[in-house]
Amino acid sequence: MSGNVTLKSEMPAVTASGLDNVVAAETALSHVDGEAGRLIVAGYDVEELVKAHDFEGAVAALWAAAGLEPAPSAAEIRNALGRAREAAFGYIPALLSSKRHETVTEGLRTGLSMLADEPGEDAADRDIPAHIRAPVSALGAAAVITAALVRAEAGKSPVAPDRHAGHAEDFIRILRDEAPAAAEVEALNAYMVTVADHGMNASTFTARVIASTKAGTISAVVGALCALKGPLHGGAPGPVLDMLDEIGTRENIEPWLERKIAGGARLMGFGHRVYRVRDPRADVFNKAVTILTNGNERVRFAREVELAALKALRAAKPGHRIDTNMEYYTAVLLEALGIPRDAVTSVFAMARIAGWTAHVMEQERVGRLIRPQSRYVGHWPEGEAAA
Ligand code: CMC
Repeated sequence: MSGNVTLKSEMPAVTASGLDNVVAAETALSHVDGEAGRLIVAGYDVEELVKAHDFEGAVAALWAAAGLEPAPSAAEIRNALGRAREAAFGYIPALLSSKRHETVTEGLRTGLSMLADEPGEDAADRDIPAHIRAPVSALGAAAVITAALVRAEAGKSPVAPDRHAGHAEDFIRILRDEAPAAAEVEALNAYMVTVADHGMNASTFTARVIASTKAGTISAVVGALCALKGPLHGGAPGPVLDMLDEIGTRENIEPWLERKIAGGARLMGFGHRVYRVRDPRADVFNKAVTILTNGNERVRFAREVELAALKALRAAKPGHRIDTNMEYYTAVLLEALGIPRDAVTSVFAMARIAGWTAHVMEQERVGRLIRPQSRYVGHWPEGEAAA
């Protein structure tokens, strides 16, 4: 270095184009052990977290782990979420009347961006304690918006939320205008708890970068949703179901997979940047959907496709350890719950907002702007040679 000027030859090389193995933050929220296939969330193995908590409990555990003070209890979160759903229902007509989106996830992006980063005391959700108003508003709104958009696509009007109900239960009810079975509520809670947080994935990293600029919680959530919707992240389940439909019959499984892999296609629901073994969340969902459907034909077919895909991927990519990721059984589970495929990513977001907002809380306490560097490989002004 010469003074504060970095010489061209001193710029460090890019560690890896996808920032593989770069540790970008310290967090008390979750830990992904890709070799052991283990996920720890707020101090629990994910399988135990699902047994210990419903979604409200998982939100409380995550926000407490993020250092939120005073940390709300699960009951306080439930109460606040009910109010947030009610407040969100008030602006559904404005959202529906300004429709510019093509998919539910795009509509959710618009709907969430209607929320204020710093909701004032005159806001519809003013009864929610100020220190959790923005994150709770995002969580409540995501459920109400998703249900209303799905219904609007089917030509149905929105159903008003019930502030006294549990979050998962009320979401299914306002989606269908019919009370769900207890097993369905349990399955959706298991799903939402399991995906609530997952290390430094692309959307969470996005949320932390935005939070580091002090842009605010809702801005961070909207940005994170934009990162989530891509098919390499949270947009995979829809294509998983398309794949199962396209394969269609048992006889077609192997030829279809061989054709796709030979053509260079990526099979949706397989592979992961961190897991080198089966994603532990895939097991939670496989179990949940098997209980929910009593292992129906669709689930059996999905299992057969999964086994054949793993065999085909191992034969075609012997140098890579590609296994089933959670999106595979997310697709089958949410389909069994009657969630239309273009809303699956929105339901993922409804749960992941718990993690994003916890990371925002953590990042805001760190307080330092995330601002990495790039290595310039373009042309230098005439007369200057790149070193
Ligand atoms: N199907 C076929 N080949 C694959 C797949 C797949 N699903 N995943 C990885 N590969 C191949 C890839 O083509 C590459 O082969 P080659 O070196 O011959 O080109 C090799 O395996 C290594 O791939 P990579 O690109 O280094 O792996 P990555 O860590 O960048 O990719 C991934 C991770 C999730 C983007 C990728 O596995 C993928 O595209 N999977 C399909 C989409 C999917 O299921 N997404 C959900 C991800 S999990 C949930 C979440 O993050 O939200």
